[in-house]
Amino acid sequence: NLPTLYNDNDDDFIIIAHRGASAYYPENTMIAFKKAVEMEAEMIELDVMMSKDGVPIVFHDAKLNRHTNGSSYIKLYSLKELKNLDAGSWFHPKFSDQTIPTLEEVLTFASGKVALNIEIKTEAVSNDIENSIEQKALQLVKKYGMRNHVLFSSFDYRAVQHLKKLDPDIPVALLYNRNQSRRLLPHQLVEQYNVDAFNCSYRQLKRKWMADLNKHKIPTFIYTVDSKRRMQKLIAGGVTGIFTNKPDLLKSVVQNY
Ligand code: G3P
Repeated sequence: NLPTLYNDNDDDFIIIAHRGASAYYPENTMIAFKKAVEMEAEMIELDVMMSKDGVPIVFHDAKLNRHTNGSSYIKLYSLKELKNLDAGSWFHPKFSDQTIPTLEEVLTFASGKVALNIEIKTEAVSNDIENSIEQKALQLVKKYGMRNHVLFSSFDYRAVQHLKKLDPDIPVALLYNRNQSRRLLPHQLVEQYNVDAFNCSYRQLKRKWMADLNKHKIPTFIYTVDSKRRMQKLIAGGVTGIFTNKPDLLKSVVQNY
C-alpha cells in the first residue's frame, strides 16, 4: 500500500518536501507547507509529537530552544502555551507570525490537496497503544478523509507495529534505525515488520541495499537530498521518492530527467 497522490505528474516517482519547503521557510510551519504545494511537491513530510495535554503537534526537536523563542522540552507545555510561541523568527524575523501547527491544522490544509508523510517522533512513543500518539494521529487522519493519502513512518519500530495493529492497511514505512535492525537486509526488515516501504538516509544506503530493494520491488524513500547530482543518481538507481528541503529543485530535476 502506498498513498494515493493528488498531483502525480511524474509516473511513480514522488517529490517529498522535507518539513515543507524548509530551505526557504521555517521548517514544520504552515507557510513552509503551503509553499511546498506551490512548488508542486507531491507529499509533505512532517514530524509529530504530543503536547502536555495530549494534542498531536508538528515539531521536530524534543526541545523548543532551536526553533522557537521557548525553552526546555515540548512535552512540558500545553497546546495553549505552545501556540503563544514564535516558530518563525529563528529563520527570519519576517516569519514571526508562524506558530507550531497542530496535526489537525495540517490535515485541514492538506486534505484534497497533498499527501502527507507523518513521522511519529521517538520521544512521543510509549507502550500504551490505546492512548498512543499513533492512535490519535490515525483518528485525525481518518476524520479528514486522508487515510489513503498518508504514509506513516517512525525510527521507533514500536510505533510502526502499533500502526499496523491499529489499522493493517494504513501505509507505513520503516524509517531505518540501525540499533533496531540487527544485520537484516531491507527486504527482511520490511517482511518482519509487515510494512509498505523502506525509508533511509542517503548516507546509510548501501549499493547492496539498493539491489535488494529493487529485487524485492520495495518502495524506497531517501532523505534528505538537496544536491542536484545526488538527486539524479538516486533517481537513476530506482528510488521511489526523495525527501528534499528544495522541492522546486527536485521538480526541475524530475522534469529534465
Ligand atoms: O523522515 C525522513 C527524515 O525526515 C528523517 O529524519 O531527522 O528529519 O526526522 P529527521
